[in-house]
Amino acid sequence: MGTTRVLQITDSQTGLSYEIPVVDGAIRAIDLRQIKVSDDDFGLLSYDPAFLNTASCRSAITYIDGDQGILRYRGYPIEELAGQASFLDVAYLLLHGELPGKDESAGWADEITHHTFVHENVKKFIDGFHHDAHPMGILVSTIAALSTFYPEAKAVSDQARQHEQIVRLIAKMPTLAAFAYRHAMGLPYAYPDNELSYTGNFLNMMRKMSEPRYAPNPVLEQALDVLFVLHADHEQNCSTSTMRVVGSSQVDPYSAAAAAAAALFGPLHGGANEQVLRMLGEIGSVGNVPAYIERVKRGELRLMGFGHRVYKNYDPRATIIKKVADQVFEVTGRNPMLDVALELERIALADDYFIRHKLYPNVDFYSGIIYQAMGFPVAMFPVLFAIGRMPGWLAQWQEGTTDPEQKISRPRQLYVGQGLRHLDGTAQVRR
Ligand code: CMC
Repeated sequence: MGTTRVLQITDSQTGLSYEIPVVDGAIRAIDLRQIKVSDDDFGLLSYDPAFLNTASCRSAITYIDGDQGILRYRGYPIEELAGQASFLDVAYLLLHGELPGKDESAGWADEITHHTFVHENVKKFIDGFHHDAHPMGILVSTIAALSTFYPEAKAVSDQARQHEQIVRLIAKMPTLAAFAYRHAMGLPYAYPDNELSYTGNFLNMMRKMSEPRYAPNPVLEQALDVLFVLHADHEQNCSTSTMRVVGSSQVDPYSAAAAAAAALFGPLHGGANEQVLRMLGEIGSVGNVPAYIERVKRGELRLMGFGHRVYKNYDPRATIIKKVADQVFEVTGRNPMLDVALELERIALADDYFIRHKLYPNVDFYSGIIYQAMGFPVAMFPVLFAIGRMPGWLAQWQEGTTDPEQKISRPRQLYVGQGLRHLDGTAQVRR
């Protein structure tokens, strides 16, 4: 791991030279602080809005090579996990570092299954939301509300307590999500069915009407499970960084996860899948695609579901999702939006603007089309993303709580405001 590589820096203002060690391909930003122009100088800062070139932690969970289109959880390629490992086993992998054995897998699934119910007061809380409340808003609020039911969650360094909250959060996400949906639809809440798989039970809570027992379609159940696997972690993205930053204050994991879910809601992040469907609806037909692409190139709007901060070649999740789409459409029939999406992709991938900007379909481009074919309303798409991402948030939070280098997150700023001035109108020129 270690290296003797050093970065030599000469300050043109003082003429002084410094040697900054490079370890694992990075310098420590704090090592720049020794570079001063005078004794009372604070020292050199690095300026990195949006953290384009800043590693905020060491992590052993997820590996991404954006140029090669590689995504691995704990070393396993996403292509091998998707379809071969269940979502719950992948959650276990992210949290524990290894895939569970047969008995561990069964024990883990059993533990999760027996924490799927929520306190009856949660229903009353959801009932208070307006009928057209966005389900993601309800989800964010109810995740936060769980902290009031489990005050012991504040013991964030206690491993046994940590485990309890991790199990509860993974187990209760589908219940909160389905309850948010049923509230919006004006339907009675459907309780968890402990005989079903994690994903099958979620479909049950979404769909069950008057039948004594809901039987999920196995193809759709498996497809949704794969989609959850694809969304389970993605290293230090916006919502995961939020989880770590908020968690660094040692607040309970429900509050931190609510903040992460709020970050995911944004249209540039997990809200993009919802925006893709709205965009496809706005385009309407294949014939309107070229004109829409021109508007994107003129900078009037962004092509939702395209582009990624890290992937500059292709998003491996998008490739897998396209295959899942075919399986789902065999059951549900073809989503008419697929033709518009395929045409959009075809024209964009051949267009110089998109090639130059390295813009490719990301995970959100096709996931929404599948969700819609499966009968989920558009507003539920980010909620589905959040269910899938919860194990990743928790694994990253857990890693942060045991990392000896982690302290409360507290970036610096470059102050560009007023210099000292007084209410009597006198002022001092800003230094
Ligand atoms: N459509 C058109 N132009 C784009 C797009 C797009 N979707 N994305 C980036 N660009 C252009 C952008 O205008 C800029 O052009 P220029 O250099 O000429 O000004 C250049 O590409 C770089 O853009 P950027 O905003 O600096 O890139 P970023 O790495 O900060 O943004 C992104 C990444 C995902 C926010 C962005 O590509 C985007 O807004 N995509 C659409 C929203 C979306 O699909 N988000 C889901 C991301 S994947 C799932 C997840 O992680 O949540």
